[in-house]
Amino acid sequence: MVLNKIAVFSQTLAMTQDELKTLVGQAALKYVVKGEIIGVGTGSTVNKFIDALATIKDSIKGAVSSSVASTEKLKAAGIPVFDLNDVEEIGVYVDGADEVTEGGFMIKGGGAALTREKIVAAQAKQFVCIADDSKWVSVLGNFPLPVEVIPMSAARIMRQFKAMGGDASIRMVNGSPLITDNGQYIVDVKGLKITHPVEFENQISQWPGVVTVGVFAVQRAHVCLLGGPTGVTTYTF
Ligand code: 5RP
Repeated sequence: MVLNKIAVFSQTLAMTQDELKTLVGQAALKYVVKGEIIGVGTGSTVNKFIDALATIKDSIKGAVSSSVASTEKLKAAGIPVFDLNDVEEIGVYVDGADEVTEGGFMIKGGGAALTREKIVAAQAKQFVCIADDSKWVSVLGNFPLPVEVIPMSAARIMRQFKAMGGDASIRMVNGSPLITDNGQYIVDVKGLKITHPVEFENQISQWPGVVTVGVFAVQRAHVCLLGGPTGVTTYTF
């Protein structure tokens, strides 16, 4: 449920998707608490956030990262990256999404980093989702659902999704299965309409071989900064 919606700009802006990502990446800076360690997600929108974070790097302690790619970008920007095992609590976790609903439920994992994203998000007090308005949906499932799986379970899990009406395939790169940062496969599932995200996430998470399902409902966003033609709109859930 949308509890609060604040339009930051009133005039209509003609911006590209890339510019909208920059806008929300910069807008997320106001959630960064000085002296703290920030949780950092993965993806092209988060890359804009890392660029923005680099401009205030001397005022934060550092970051915990959700992927090898984000770690490399953070380090290149001169931001210290901490091992999550050495950090007890994170105030704010900033990440993108492939889909987000007005309840703060998300599909994530388009960048194959969903497992570490869910782990870092679990340790954060506040999840700030940053996205352009193409990601805003009423029901999750138009974007193919990413599921990280143990390779030997992939065929069985794909059959289980087929029985639910889904069309599942192993994500490929250059003719071979994509291998995640955790050494596993990604199964992408088309054709699902996820009307009860919490129940769905809990159900799929129980299947043997599923490492992480890309529905973020148990750990949903607390805030969404959505970039659109009127600028950044802040949704709090
Ligand atoms: C990576 C993710 C990303 O946050 C999601 O795919 C959105 O990416 P982008 O900002 O590039 O659209 O979940 O696993």
